[in-house]
Amino acid sequence: MFLGIDIGTSAVKVICTDGTAIHATATADLTVQSPHQGWSEQTTDAWWMATRAALAEIAETMPLSGVTGIGLSGQMHGAVLLDSAREVLRPAILWNDSRSTEDCARLQAALPEIGTIAGVLPLPGFTAPKLMWVSREEPDVHARIAHILLPKDYIGLRLHGELATDRSDAAGTLWLDQATRDWSHVVAEASDTDPGWLPRLADGHEVVGQVTAAAAAETGLPAGIPVVAGGGDAATGAVSLGATEPGRGFISLGTSGQLFVAGDAYHPNPAKYVHAFAHTVPGRWYQMAAMLNGARPIAWLAGQLGISAGDVVALAESADPARVPTFLPYLTGERSPHGDPHIRAGFFGLEDSTDRAALCRAVLEAVAFTFADAVESFGDTIADLPHLAAIGGGSKSPFLLQLIANATGQRIGRTAGSDAGPAMGAARLAACGLGALSLSDLGQQPDVADWFEPAPVHDLSDRLQTYRALYIALKPLSQ
Ligand code: XUL
Repeated sequence: MFLGIDIGTSAVKVICTDGTAIHATATADLTVQSPHQGWSEQTTDAWWMATRAALAEIAETMPLSGVTGIGLSGQMHGAVLLDSAREVLRPAILWNDSRSTEDCARLQAALPEIGTIAGVLPLPGFTAPKLMWVSREEPDVHARIAHILLPKDYIGLRLHGELATDRSDAAGTLWLDQATRDWSHVVAEASDTDPGWLPRLADGHEVVGQVTAAAAAETGLPAGIPVVAGGGDAATGAVSLGATEPGRGFISLGTSGQLFVAGDAYHPNPAKYVHAFAHTVPGRWYQMAAMLNGARPIAWLAGQLGISAGDVVALAESADPARVPTFLPYLTGERSPHGDPHIRAGFFGLEDSTDRAALCRAVLEAVAFTFADAVESFGDTIADLPHLAAIGGGSKSPFLLQLIANATGQRIGRTAGSDAGPAMGAARLAACGLGALSLSDLGQQPDVADWFEPAPVHDLSDRLQTYRALYIALKPLSQ
């Protein structure tokens, strides 16, 4: 049995699989702290406690003694800073934190070619500008840094004691030279980062350590079992769908949203904030539009209305589609396609008669519109894809997937267990590292259980035009 552990933003998810079927799943919730406007942080202890809780839940269904290998997945771009004793120096700064906006401008000015080296232009979510912020605002912390890890790699450190990452997670730091798949000392030095602080690079299926006796005592996992490097959640989501083979694409509807297409060469396209990153498997890269807001606005509205996300979807379905306001979903600024950390969300077109159902439908349509923008930013490269698979919590809603198919003009396919994506991908990398699957087996696509065919809807395309015009109109007010 193989375990996949995904360190998400809203929860740690663990799944247990033989490489194909899922035998057990568990989830332990996480919260995000925002001590100042635009900040987004979590503690590494919260990740570890949630990992232990999820493993304990798995152990209620099946004995952990049957686990033979572990793969890790996690939210990308977070900065975990450690001192020379490997003690954590401050809470982790997450992928949706916007404090380092001015550092991005400095980095871009210092290194105009950064988009070509790093595969994307500097934005505050990425790890490198965060180090510049720490250097500027927390010099005492900066002076003590000896190691930097990504979120899943911190859990790796707790499990096996090694400092390692995989290339897909390294890709999201800005410190990886995407073409050579090695650390770029030039980018590190331009961003107040000693290249010696960066962990060893591995492929996602490579074994990087074994569960220590101390970790075994804390978790109930067998001591000595191998842990593979795994991948950033975008890449592990891809591995769950066979999107290691060129030309395979999918959308991910989690706290964040992604449109991802795998390829066998590095094609930077930084102008529209399409990320060109190294994949977690050798010889593969991917193009990704990364939307900071993903399906999160649904959970946000549910929280404000005191109802569940499922209730938001049900209300949206009951709304009169001819009388829906327009919602801009940019609760935390946006990465693709705007590269705009300042923009914020808003409703437009409210009337006295606008009810909760109409607000819910406006929010779901906005989620679909972010994917319409993502598809547009890919240009012709997406035209030949036979379909886009769908994963993440939002993929549980057929209504949302149909809206996305209509808004994007793309055929969407949903596989069974689509919400388990990244954890499943991590477990498959473990199965590959231990010889149960080959690298080419990772390209096997799970069967599609439900299809969503695009149909043109007049009102929806009108509102998409309003949505796009609204961003342009509001941009100057949000600086
Ligand atoms: C990808 C991205 C998110 C995070 C959190 O670029 O920012 O997917 O990994 O899920």
